[in-house]
Parts: sequence; structure tokens; C-alpha cells
Amino acid sequence: TLDSTVLSCGASRPKTALSNVEISEFVDTSDEWISQRTGIRSRRVLQPGESIADHAASAAQKALDRSGLDPADIGLVIVATSTPEDLFGDAANVADQCGCKNAVGFDITAACSGFLFALVTASQFLESGTYDAALVVGADAMSRWVDWGDRNTCILFGDGAGAVAIKKGGAGLLGFSMGSNGAGREKLALPYNGNRLPLIGGKSATVVGPRAMLMEGRSVYVFAATTVPRVLREALEDAHLTVDDVDWFLLHQANERILEAVADRIGVPKDKFIINMDENGNTSAASIPLALDFAVKSGSVKKGDVLACAGFGAGLSWGAAIFRW
Ligand code: ACO
Repeated sequence: TLDSTVLSCGASRPKTALSNVEISEFVDTSDEWISQRTGIRSRRVLQPGESIADHAASAAQKALDRSGLDPADIGLVIVATSTPEDLFGDAANVADQCGCKNAVGFDITAACSGFLFALVTASQFLESGTYDAALVVGADAMSRWVDWGDRNTCILFGDGAGAVAIKKGGAGLLGFSMGSNGAGREKLALPYNGNRLPLIGGKSATVVGPRAMLMEGRSVYVFAATTVPRVLREALEDAHLTVDDVDWFLLHQANERILEAVADRIGVPKDKFIINMDENGNTSAASIPLALDFAVKSGSVKKGDVLACAGFGAGLSWGAAIFRW
């Protein structure tokens, strides 16, 4: 248990939607293929000049407004992202835009596990007494990094940001578990390809050039379907709870078939899983807080509910956290 409470959430997505049908106009795929295999029908895509950091700030602002906290109370802003607006980090920008003058901001990168790792990290700072309140944001602009000519990957992803405000006290983070395994890094990776730039005296620099996402779809599926049930059980054990104590399972929205496999393996009906990838695609670090915001707004998640969250993805990395809403 960590002595922190999730107070509120917020979300922000680009306005521009891109449907499966539209994607099938420029790559060899179909709405039927994509929706049957993934549950995704549409996703939001940032337009040129639109900033993912602005969406992160907007999501954080909404969470802050709904929390009742004063911006000055926020001691920490963490942005989980693999695709920031500024490679030096977006969190200080987000803190500035939200008027959190007393906050330190930093980004963390852990792909689709990023939000959960950030939530646990921020909660540890509250538990230790260093800060009283924090904003935890997940934001990703995957559309800027996927290869839009590769039907294996481009159909999966979307852009967006989600955030929560948390404060010290209440012992609301009931349990967690996290893991990673770098030996599986090539199953899912977004490497830089460098172009050699000669400098002087035989010395060179490597300048970032075109890159392409690597993904072994089948092994990622198997990894997720086997690891997520395990990490959920570990987090529940840490919380001294069982699956029966959980009101909602809120998993990274990678793919509906992964959620079905997890539901099956832990013996929980699928209607206990929050699912909103149909209109967002896989938004990486943003997907859990985006789905939380969706479920709170739709009235599914109510105050006092116990949520079991799990993130999983590149690294490979995975994590689960159980908290009371
Ligand atoms: N449209 C039509 N055909 C396609 C498409 C597409 N968009 N993409 C691939 N295909 C073809 C393949 O080329 C292949 O053709 P072939 O048999 O002639 O070679 C065929 O469809 C089957 O491909 P598979 O990869 O075997 O399809 P599979 O049933 O495994 O589904 C999928 C692919 C959806 C990617 C699945 O493996 C999966 O969900 N994996 C998990 C990956 C994931 O979620 N990644 C997200 C990032 S990671 C994360 O967030 C955890």
C-alpha cells in the first residue's frame, strides 16, 4: 500500500479522427481486418503544428480543476511519454501551462507501461513525504513515429493524453507490481537509424535519420496474454485482494483480443473490463488515463470503486496497480 489517493482525471485528444476505412485508402487493409483483429475502428491523429505537450497540459489542467487542489500545492509533475513534443522533456512545459509554480517536472519513458510506472513513482514521492500532491500524465504522439506505409503497425496506434491528480493520504494505492525484460526488446522497438555525418580527422557523428517501428505482432500478443494475468495477480496479492474485490479492470488499450485473453485467463467476465480502443486506437502511455476518463464520464466508474490497472509493452515492460477511485 502507498499512502496516496487518486482524486480526479482528465483527457485531451486531437480533434482529427482517422477511420479504418480512411486508412484502407492508402494501405492495403480493410475496416473488417482491423476491427476484427484489434477492436479498433478509428483513432485521433495530431495535425501539423499541433502539440502533444499542449494536449498533455490540457488533460493535466482538467484533472487539476476537478481535484480541488490549488496549482501551488502540486510538488511534482511527471509526464510518461515515448514521443514527447520536445525530446528534452515535456513535463516542465506542462507544469508551466498549469501554473504549478512549485512543481518539479520530468518525463519518464516506459512505452505502454509508462503511465503506471509514473503513477507508482509519483505515489512513492507522496508516501515518502517529499511532496503533498502530484499530476501524473500519459501522453503520446504515435502518429508521428509510425511508418504510415506499414499495414502491420500503422493501423494500431493513435494520439492523445490523459492525466490524474493525486494527493498524499488515504492509503488509496492498494498494491502494485512492475517488471521489465530487456532481452525481449526487439519484439517491439522504435530505434533511431543514424546517418553518418563526417566531422573532421576521420571522426563522425551519427545524425538521426528515418526510422521504423519493429514489432513481432504474434510474440507481443503472447507476451501480453501471459504476463498481464501474472502481474495483475501479483498486484492483487500485494493489496491482499482477489479478482472478486475488483470493480473494474482497466488495462492498456492495445487490442481487444489481448483483453479478452486476459479476462479468460483470470476468470473474470469481459464486461468488467473498460474498453475504449474502438475510437482511440493504441495511445501508448495515454491509454489508461484516457480510458479512465472515458469510464468516469460514462458513469461506469464510481467513487469508491476498486480499479485494477495494467500496462504492458515495449522494453519489454509491464506493471499493475490497484487503486480505489
Ligand atoms: N490488413 C490486412 N492484412 C494484414 C494487416 C492489415 N493491416 N496487417 C497484417 N496483415 C496480414 C499479414 O501480412 C499476414 O499475411 P500473410 O499471412 O499473407 O503473411 C496476415 O495478415 C496475418 O498476419 P498476422 O501478423 O499473423 O496476424 P495476427 O492475427 O497475429 O494479427 C496483430 C496481427 C493484430 C498485430 C496481432 O498479432 C496483435 O494484436 N499483436 C499484438 C501487437 C500489439 O498490440 N502491438 C501494439 C503495440 S504493443 C502494446 O501496446 C502492448
